[in-house]
Amino acid sequence: MWGGRFAVGPDAAMAHINASIDFDRRLYAQDIAASKAHGEMLVRQGIVSAQDGKAILSGLDTILREIEAGDFTFDAALEDIHMNVEARLRALIGEAAGRLHTARSRNDQVATDFRLWLRETIDALDGQLRDLQAALIDQAEAHAATVMPGYTHLQPAQPVTLGHHLLAYVEMFGRDRGRLADCRTRLNECPLGAAALAGTSFPIDRAATAKALGFDRPTANSIDAVSDRDFALEFLSTGAILAVHLSRLAEEIVIWCTDRFAFVALSDAFSTGSSIMPQKRNPDAAELVRGKCGRVIGSLNTLLVVMKGLPLAYGKDMQEDKEPVFDAADTLTLCLAASTGMLRDLRPDVDALRAATAGGFLTATDLADWLVRVLGLPFREAHHATGAIVQRAVKRNCLLAELPLADMQEIEPRITKDVYDVLSVEKAVESRNSLGGTAPVQVKAAVAAARERFL
Ligand code: ARG
Repeated sequence: MWGGRFAVGPDAAMAHINASIDFDRRLYAQDIAASKAHGEMLVRQGIVSAQDGKAILSGLDTILREIEAGDFTFDAALEDIHMNVEARLRALIGEAAGRLHTARSRNDQVATDFRLWLRETIDALDGQLRDLQAALIDQAEAHAATVMPGYTHLQPAQPVTLGHHLLAYVEMFGRDRGRLADCRTRLNECPLGAAALAGTSFPIDRAATAKALGFDRPTANSIDAVSDRDFALEFLSTGAILAVHLSRLAEEIVIWCTDRFAFVALSDAFSTGSSIMPQKRNPDAAELVRGKCGRVIGSLNTLLVVMKGLPLAYGKDMQEDKEPVFDAADTLTLCLAASTGMLRDLRPDVDALRAATAGGFLTATDLADWLVRVLGLPFREAHHATGAIVQRAVKRNCLLAELPLADMQEIEPRITKDVYDVLSVEKAVESRNSLGGTAPVQVKAAVAAARERFL
């Protein structure tokens, strides 16, 4: 394609390092769509004859069918997807194929293809995130009143409802969707027509190609158009945050499945056995979601380092943009599918969750609040008195709700038997009826609101 001034072909290592066809063949559909839009525009602008244009378009359709049927031979000697398609077009329609590359370069071509691919990928991931939110919301609704220990520092803190806990993830994934949408909005500009870097002397219609490909507008600056990979970096940043969220959910599933916690059971479909220990049920999918987060963060790091310090405009370094993006997208697709599957099948053990709230004096804050509300103690003093009462319960090896009134009165004489009203975990969660709080009524309202906002 570019051999005009060369006497000999490339060294084997040169050819090998240069070729991207093994991975960028994934862009074939976008490459052909962009070529069709470009070709149609060239005809409309009188740059290519109608007859050549017709041959080009039907040739491109044939190539698309061939690739989709698995009848296309990709050739590494032709470097990349752009030249593989063009070479095949020449074989199919002859000399007219050479006119398609008028007023464009592989630099604006690859930037366009990649944006188109990423746009579709973002839309697919958004749908998967929505499915995951739906699974979480359904479980949250079923467990709006299921009490469990809430943790800080992974130490029992206050009783919460499982529904409330799960809805925290719905918020996280909602923000991920927002970031993806934001990235999509910014990437939706069309580089086509920037050509190698400076634009073109042909009378092209960039607005027309942008519109034909569903872009909001053409990119404003031709140098930026071919050298910018912010859209890929934004996608990877967003993807890395999403992967972190998935890893936190996965880690909780791993913890909840341990026999010490035993808060939930995974279905057989999402558990694995051990080849040596017949009794084992391992949460491998959750562990892998947790582990694969490393790949996505690694991909972001890879592309940041590739782009760092690159002078304008295009540099071949930028061919290294695709593999990390493809790998991150594939990893996220798989992790989302596995997470949604685990969540849909998850069987929380309501009794075990309830039983776990017995330890850890989870209603100590409720006792302190009662001392403030009913006796008018300053919170700091109430905190101190409650600490002493907890100490007493530890000594007696009983729950706060089981501690005799006389013991409490030794520490704070004004305490009455009414205090027992706030010491049960059910009362404790019901009382946290502030907006966004853990009370079952709030959780039910939040479930309805989440369906409205996200589904
Ligand atoms: N395969 C190349 C890439 O992915 C396409 C652009 C090549 N441009 C060039 N000037 N050699 O970046």
